[in-house]
Amino acid sequence: MYKSRILGVGHYVPERTVTNDDLSKMMDTNNDWIVERTGIRTRHWFTPGVDTVTNMSKKATEMALERAGVGAEDIDFIIFATITPDYFIPGNGVLLQRELNFRNIGALDIRNACSGFIYALSIADQFIKTGMYKKVLVVGAEIQSSALDKSDEGRSSAVIFADGAGAAVLGAVESDQPGILSTHLHSQGQYAEELYCKDPGSSREVRISQEMIDSGSFFVKMNGNAVFKHAVVRFMEVIQEALDHNGLDKSAIDLLVPHQANLRISQYIQQKLELPDEKVFNNIMHLGNTTAGTIPIALSEAWEQGKIKEGDLICLAAFGSGFTWASALLNW
Ligand code: COA
Repeated sequence: MYKSRILGVGHYVPERTVTNDDLSKMMDTNNDWIVERTGIRTRHWFTPGVDTVTNMSKKATEMALERAGVGAEDIDFIIFATITPDYFIPGNGVLLQRELNFRNIGALDIRNACSGFIYALSIADQFIKTGMYKKVLVVGAEIQSSALDKSDEGRSSAVIFADGAGAAVLGAVESDQPGILSTHLHSQGQYAEELYCKDPGSSREVRISQEMIDSGSFFVKMNGNAVFKHAVVRFMEVIQEALDHNGLDKSAIDLLVPHQANLRISQYIQQKLELPDEKVFNNIMHLGNTTAGTIPIALSEAWEQGKIKEGDLICLAAFGSGFTWASALLNW
């Protein structure tokens, strides 16, 4: 029986930095409000004609492959988590397969929003554990800024979401080696419309209409209060589920890497788990919320900063649109 281990992580964010003051020129907001309510000071937004989900994920993947010491020819399968693909059809996995000249391996796109990376990790883990694949590339990448309503009406989500890509190379190791211990996935569709992007959808007469454009139904809509209230409960539940499943106490966690939804959510979880600052990794302050990108980008930054050492117990947890939520426990 094999186990899967993260062999290397990489990330890329677009060059364009957007400050809170920049946002206050587009909508009725200000730096103090954004910092106090979300912790975000700057974020990166794509430049049209320069950045794409594909080319950002290509750069993140190249970094992850290099750090893993793995060639593109060694990858057996691609799992691409994004809710903002470059095309409506096909998905982004095949575009990355083409871009990096991977063999004609399978490429799977998944659409689990902020939980997307952990869902993707879980799928990769199952393929590796059953012996079907030896090396799987897992990507989380988004361009959210083009789906944001940058008027006063959309300000509560426009100040939060941002763009970026992260990637992880997973490899099969013997079961006594460090690696993924378990993953835990959940959903509750009754809250789908609390954080969603209605159009373009298929169950309308045409996919894009003037009415959709006029009503702004293609923008991300979020009920921030509802999301916040559910997030704090579900984050705690799913982390505890992972700890209980492995018979571990919260004090065993060496590094918690939460989905970067809002700094206040991360701080709440940190307080509940009684973890010191050095055991929780946050980068939302300079990157905002990049949906499926946040966890692999955070892992890559934490690794670069020497905050992850071999064998460390890492806890990943996410919550987002769906609602979906998920956790993973792994030894690095
Ligand atoms: N700038 C300035 N004021 C803003 C604003 C902005 N960007 N967005 C909202 N406001 C205003 C509201 O209109 C409201 O004004 P009012 O009191 O006059 O009605 C006031 O600020 C408080 O709004 P509220 O929505 O209650 O604030 P909040 O403390 O809940 O913070 C969020 C809003 C969006 C930051 C917060 O709800 C949140 O972070 N939710 C979770 C979001 C999240 O994690 N999403 C990603 C999930 S993956």
